[in-house]
Amino acid sequence: MSNRKDDHIHSALKQDHPNNDFDSVRLLSNSVGSVNVKDVDIQVHMFERTFLTPIYINAMSGGSELSKEVNEKLSVVASHFGFPMATGSLSAAIKNDTWKESFQIIQKNMENGFKIANIGLSRSKEDAKKAVEILNADALQIHLNVAQEITMPEGDREFKHWNARISEIINYIDVPVIVKEVGFGMTRETVELLSSLGVTYIDVSGKGGTNFISVENDRRVNRLKTFENYGISTVESLLDNQNQKVTLFASGGIRDAFDVVKALSLGATMVGMSGYFLKLVMQHSIEEVLVIIQTLIDDVKGMMAVLNVENIQDLKHVQKIYHGTVLEFINQRKK
Ligand SMILES: Cc1cc2nc3c(=O)[nH]c(=O)nc-3n(C[C@H](O)[C@H](O)[C@H](O)COP(=O)(O)O)c2cc1C
Repeated sequence: MSNRKDDHIHSALKQDHPNNDFDSVRLLSNSVGSVNVKDVDIQVHMFERTFLTPIYINAMSGGSELSKEVNEKLSVVASHFGFPMATGSLSAAIKNDTWKESFQIIQKNMENGFKIANIGLSRSKEDAKKAVEILNADALQIHLNVAQEITMPEGDREFKHWNARISEIINYIDVPVIVKEVGFGMTRETVELLSSLGVTYIDVSGKGGTNFISVENDRRVNRLKTFENYGISTVESLLDNQNQKVTLFASGGIRDAFDVVKALSLGATMVGMSGYFLKLVMQHSIEEVLVIIQTLIDDVKGMMAVLNVENIQDLKHVQKIYHGTVLEFINQRKK
């Protein structure tokens, strides 16, 4: 029998998303430069820590031999750059001790790093606590993945308890909780509901990159082809959630340094990547990956200098122009 986690990894690796809504956002600047690259500060202060960059490795792996290998490589990268790193759902390790090691492998490489456990809402608050304990995690991600479950033949069909479960978990565990999508984005109504349930950290994880309906379609007999268009993009999610009273993280379809800069400019506090990092560690040696990522970080700073900003706060005030369906979205979602 094939392992679901391995299926996910293989499908995600096949996906390619050369174009997405980040292409419909343009940033304006003044041609008269005024910032030295060495003065650009991209540090983020959060969770009583200082992160050197606003980048994190988002939830993916654990629960198979292959995903243990992936977690090992990702955690070397996370440790080298001081990136926070989330694992994939710890559900597999809670059900079966055999898979604990495939998650715990990251502790070896990330002794002082920021480790994030991940769990779904079919699990109890006690399981959420176990997930944190297995990883000795510094934070917990709860994933919202109704569209994925519905596409999955063996997926969950019961979601009525989700509202109550979110609050229960937040009240029960003693590390910060981040609620995230898995690539279909979050409207302002979603964020407001989550906020009313006590959630203060939200990863909108929008459309534009890894498409989990497509991933699950690869495991189905009859593909739900048109359903692959479901969801709102990361750009639309960020635009819909300007001025919310929560800390927003952005993920979903971040392809390069310019997307990182755009996501930060649109209000994200930190920017997560999954498919990007998966492809890097599966297709390159660790030495090559370290060079590629150092270049990504240098490029983020370089682009901020182009935009005449020295820090992430100032980046938020950069003027933006929107095109195409993003503009339609803005117009139809006007309050
Ligand atoms: C192979 C793979 C496995 C994933 N597994 C999980 C998971 O277990 N839990 C979760 O919250 N998100 C999971 N995700 C979703 C990502 O965290 C992220 O929300 C989504 O892939 C969009 O980001 P991207 O476009 O950078 O890949 C997974 C993504 C990939 C590629």
